[in-house]
Amino acid sequence: MARLAGKIALIVGGGADGPPREGEKLSIGNGRATAIMCAREGASVMVADRSLALAKETAQAIRDEGGRAETVEMDISREEDCRRAVEATVKAFGALHLLVNNVGIAIGGRLLETSAEQFDRMVAVNLRGHFLTMKYAVPEIAKAGGGSIVNVSSLAALRSNQMLPYEATKAALLGLSRSAAMSHARDKIRVNTVLPGLINSSMVRRQVGDREAQVAPRIPMRRQGTPWEVANAIVFLLSDEASYITATELVVDGGLSAR
Ligand SMILES: NC(=O)c1ccc[n+]([C@@H]2O[C@H](COP(=O)([O-])OP(=O)(O)OC[C@H]3O[C@@H](n4cnc5c(N)ncnc54)[C@H](O)[C@@H]3O)[C@@H](O)[C@H]2O)c1
Repeated sequence: MARLAGKIALIVGGGADGPPREGEKLSIGNGRATAIMCAREGASVMVADRSLALAKETAQAIRDEGGRAETVEMDISREEDCRRAVEATVKAFGALHLLVNNVGIAIGGRLLETSAEQFDRMVAVNLRGHFLTMKYAVPEIAKAGGGSIVNVSSLAALRSNQMLPYEATKAALLGLSRSAAMSHARDKIRVNTVLPGLINSSMVRRQVGDREAQVAPRIPMRRQGTPWEVANAIVFLLSDEASYITATELVVDGGLSAR
C-alpha cells in the first residue's frame, strides 16, 4: 500500500526555481521532487510557492501522473501568507496531516561581507517562516489526529563554508524543529529535519550552474545527490515507517560529513 495514502500534505517551496538538468524536461529541485513523491505515495498535495507559475508546474506534473494537487501563492516571510497557505490546504482537501518546509535561500557571505538587511532577510525566510508555517499548521494537524513535519536544513548547519547567514539559519532550524517536536509529541505530531549535502538541484544550478564534475571528487560516493534522494528521506520521515522518530536529524550527503 502507498505509504501516504489518505494523507494531506502541504509542501512549502514546492516549485523549482532554476534551469533543468541536461536531458530533464522539467527542472527538479528538492521541493518539487518531494511534492511529486508525496503524491506518488498517495497523498493529496498542496503546493505552496512564492511563484504561482512554479507551483502550477509541480501540480500539473502530479496531475499528469494521476495524483491530486492544488496550488497556493505564498511568501513564507509574510505571516498572513503562512496562515493562508494552511487555511487553503484545509479548504481544498478537508484536513492537514503533513507539512514540509523546503524554502531556503542563500544570500550574504562571510561575517564582514554580510549586511544587517541581508541577515534579517535570511532569518525571515529560512527560519521565522518555518516557525510561522508550523505555528499555523500544528493546530490543524492535531485536529486531524496527528501527523509529521519535516524542515529542510542543510549540511551547512554542521559544517562551515563561510556563508554565515545560511549556516546560522540552517543551524537554528535544528533547534526550532527539536523544540517544536518536544512541544507536540503528545499530540502525535513528529518534527524532524533533513540535512542535504551537495545536491544537483534547481537551487544549485540557478546559483552556480551544473557543478557535478567539479564537486564529485570531494564526495565519498563520487557524485552529487539527486533531489529524488532528498525526497525519499523526507517521505520516509513523513510516513508511518518513521512512527517512533521525532526531534532528530537525517543527513543525506553521500558520506561527505564523515570525511
Ligand atoms: N541543493 C542543494 O545542494 C541543497 C543542499 C542543502 C540544502 N538545500 C536546501 O534545499 C532547499 C531548496 O531546495 P530546492 O532544490 O527545492 O530549491 P529551489 O531554489 O528550487 O526552491 C524551491 C522553491 O522555493 C520557492 N521560494 C523561494 N523563496 C520563497 C519564499 N520566500 N516563500 C515561498 N516560496 C519561496 C522558490 O520559488 C522555489 O520554487 C532549501 O531549503 C535549501 O537550503 C539544498
